[in-house]
Amino acid sequence: MATTVWTRRHVLGLADFTPAEFDTVLQTAASFREVLSTRTKKVPALQGHVVANLFFEPSTRTRSSFELAARRLSADTLNFAAGTSSLTKGETILDTAKTYLAMGADMMVIRHREAGVPHAIASEMNQLGVRVSILNAGDGQHEHPSQGLLDLFTITSLIDFEYPRLGLLAGKKIAIVGDILHSRVARSNIWSLTSSKAEVHLAGPPTLLPKLLAEIGDSSISNPKSQSQNRKLFLHWELEPALKDADFVMTLRLQKERMTSHLLPSLREYHQHYGITRDRLKLCKPDVKILHPGPVNRGVEISSDLMDDPQFSLISQQVTSGVAVRMALLYLMGSGKN
Ligand code: CP
Repeated sequence: MATTVWTRRHVLGLADFTPAEFDTVLQTAASFREVLSTRTKKVPALQGHVVANLFFEPSTRTRSSFELAARRLSADTLNFAAGTSSLTKGETILDTAKTYLAMGADMMVIRHREAGVPHAIASEMNQLGVRVSILNAGDGQHEHPSQGLLDLFTITSLIDFEYPRLGLLAGKKIAIVGDILHSRVARSNIWSLTSSKAEVHLAGPPTLLPKLLAEIGDSSISNPKSQSQNRKLFLHWELEPALKDADFVMTLRLQKERMTSHLLPSLREYHQHYGITRDRLKLCKPDVKILHPGPVNRGVEISSDLMDDPQFSLISQQVTSGVAVRMALLYLMGSGKN
């Protein structure tokens, strides 16, 4: 497996990740999964380090698993909640970050509803010449790199539990279905999965799957021949071609909070056309698996019974993978040559 010496100070997105960096995260996460299976579940790797979780937008999974990951690495954690912070008194986001820096934060995990906030803080920290690492925990519609990495870890671990690696996905067909337009998870997954030489098929209604996205793979609607950088990305405004013979199906939450205009006739109609159901899964490979980053709108993007069916659903495994993958990220950023 091609791994690399970690030199990346900040993790702001997966668009510029190299295959060796993906494999390094996967391999490190696999080691931490072993640690998590021991009685103590803890290592002293980041003893003395301070991880600040700055979440300016709600989160259950990402926030809690970053906190648990930091604790499992023996780091100290600082947790910030926008609603009870001095933001409510007019303090700026940058001043908030500098406040945590002054308290000794070595790493800041940042979620914000606006794209680019983690980048802006990283740039400010670079200009200040301080050695602090910024991890993007989801910024607007831009990227959610740790989610992309935990999805990659979940899928590759299913194929080879001991040695999850990017190369395992060559030739696999992965469908990403739903509200692609508003999904930072979809963007991060597009970058990681297309780096693996998997075929990635996006499907959704035209209002939620803009043709513009085809530029990532330089493909066009239903034109599998057009590719760039060997990224195999295909767009479909109907579900069936995306599901046909798929190995994995990722469904996405309809992000109603980000929809500023009427993009869908109704949730019922959306489910009728794009909802993942047992019937529709018959189009896929018999051993197809379903992923969803959560939180889920039950009965909208996926039927409720399917979500809970362990034969198909990897949703719980995704959450479990999140801790090991976030341990890997914190460890690599905290101890790498960055
Ligand atoms: N998948 C995800 O980001 O979930 P949370 O919003 O609960 O963190």
